[in-house]
Amino acid sequence: MRSLVLLSVAASALARTPDSFYPSKLNHTSYISNSSVGTYGGIYEAPANGPTGGSPYGIYDYCSMPHPRSDEYELPEALAKGSTKGKLVYLEYLQRHQRRTPYNILPGGENQAYHCDDVRPYLYAGPNSASGIQPMPMYAQTYQDPSNPFTPGVNGTCQYPQITIGGVQDGYQHGKDLWGVYGKKLGLIPAKPNSRVWFRSSESALTQASAGAVLRGVWPDHKGALPLHQMVTSVNTVNGGYSCPAVSATLSSMKSTTQWKEHLAVTEELRSKLGSMLGATETSWQSTFDHFADNFQGRLCNGYDLPCSLSNSSACVTMQMAEEVFRAGDWEWNYYWRTNPDVVKYIQVVEGLLIGEIISRLQAVLNGNSSLDYSHIFIHDGDIGPILGSLGIETLRWPGMASNIAFEVWETKDSEDGNSFYARVLYSGHPIRSIHGVLDWVPLSKLIDILSPYVPEDITSLCR
Ligand SMILES: *[C@@H]1O[C@H](CO)[C@@H](O)[C@H](O)[C@H]1NC(C)=O
Ligand SMILES: *[C@@H]1O[C@H](CO)[C@@H](O)[C@H](O)[C@H]1NC(C)=O
Ligand SMILES: *[C@@H]1O[C@H](CO)[C@@H](O)[C@H](O)[C@H]1NC(C)=O
Ligand SMILES: *[C@@H]1O[C@H](CO)[C@@H](O)[C@H](O)[C@H]1NC(C)=O
Ligand SMILES: *[C@@H]1O[C@H](CO)[C@@H](O)[C@H](O)[C@H]1NC(C)=O
Repeated sequence: MRSLVLLSVAASALARTPDSFYPSKLNHTSYISNSSVGTYGGIYEAPANGPTGGSPYGIYDYCSMPHPRSDEYELPEALAKGSTKGKLVYLEYLQRHQRRTPYNILPGGENQAYHCDDVRPYLYAGPNSASGIQPMPMYAQTYQDPSNPFTPGVNGTCQYPQITIGGVQDGYQHGKDLWGVYGKKLGLIPAKPNSRVWFRSSESALTQASAGAVLRGVWPDHKGALPLHQMVTSVNTVNGGYSCPAVSATLSSMKSTTQWKEHLAVTEELRSKLGSMLGATETSWQSTFDHFADNFQGRLCNGYDLPCSLSNSSACVTMQMAEEVFRAGDWEWNYYWRTNPDVVKYIQVVEGLLIGEIISRLQAVLNGNSSLDYSHIFIHDGDIGPILGSLGIETLRWPGMASNIAFEVWETKDSEDGNSFYARVLYSGHPIRSIHGVLDWVPLSKLIDILSPYVPEDITSLCR
């Protein structure tokens, strides 16, 4: 791949498959313990304000994962070479919400306050007609009351989690860039929202807030409101909605393997150091890297420093410690969704229904009777991970803020082998590298075949 071929070809091949997404040794615990791996070319910092994006474009940037942008967007190779003529006819776009405050506040307390006065999470309800009552646009203003005897362990004006101003600004840019590619350049997204576009989110305020920012970027001048579809929380097929005891049962069996135990063994010293420094010795902080990673990412992605001990201000988390936490987090995500022995069942029980819904929409395009051109779903890392797993991504680092999957369907004129619909799958702006090859141009029916094993035949009996 790196031999002396034409420079431009080599450069564009590299641009399509950025190496920082695909650490070849991710399935080994040496990826975690080897400190010279650093961030494996990734970025984990962003200022409080403004859209960000790793430089050069396309590298793994946890705080703002790359997304399709018109300057760098390349047509599928088959079309770019001109051997085939094709038209984009469908886009299924999935994304994680934009950057935010953390879910997990340090049990020992946070040494820095979080400020969210610069962002307004709106929440109000009104009738479904412009002639009815127009409600006051209310927004949530978080405050602290010193008379409340309970302390949250963190000062400031945020909820945990909540979208930050940087997340809103990043979302707006994300939407503008999507318009640049899928509206202006490829003519798929209509100039105004119509009945062939469809939006969905989880019931979380985070994903709803992202939708508002991103879609304003897509349609800056649209007046009025848009429906954001949501399932009833108790049966939601995203964000762990429906009840399924098999999810936790499968997870505990995954955590009994020698591989899992080895990753805890190689991080024993790190976990113990962080535990005593930050008052985080309880199981929920020590048994996976989820909480430490989330807490540090929340700080670094919004212009704050890594935390220090509340009782000793010179005992602070170093960037080196944080990097080891992030590598361990990457290892865990790769294990959950790619290499654990129960991976097919785990993806089926967690995300199989959403994968089935995506297949139905792709199937409708294939049948020529799709009622949609563009579907955009705002979800969570815990949804993006299993979908990438079902696509057989080569290696999976933790899908960062606003990480995104674009399922593009192209209709071609020449149908020698009976396939006139081709698919391409971009992960964070680039054709995904998967165990099925680079998914740059595959018959749509083949993409459906790749995904289908992850759709459970009978979820209710599987879940029991
Ligand atoms: C540690 O990582 C560096 C940088 O990726 C690599 O060159 C080196 O071979 C690794 N060492 C071990 C023992 O894996
Ligand atoms: C929060 O602010 C109060 C008042 O300034 C201070 O006494 C307290 O130590 C702070 N708490 C944390 C967790 O920083
Ligand atoms: C505070 O932390 C620093 C840096 O880890 C350490 O050198 C020092 O001994 C600690 N002080 C106390 C009183 O524990
Ligand atoms: C990951 O590593 C484990 C243990 O070293 C091995 O059994 C497994 O086959 C590897 N999986 C992949 C997909 O490389
Ligand atoms: C779409 O076409 C397929 C295949 O022709 C057919 O089975 C299905 O019922 C159609 N669906 C709708 C909603 O028309």
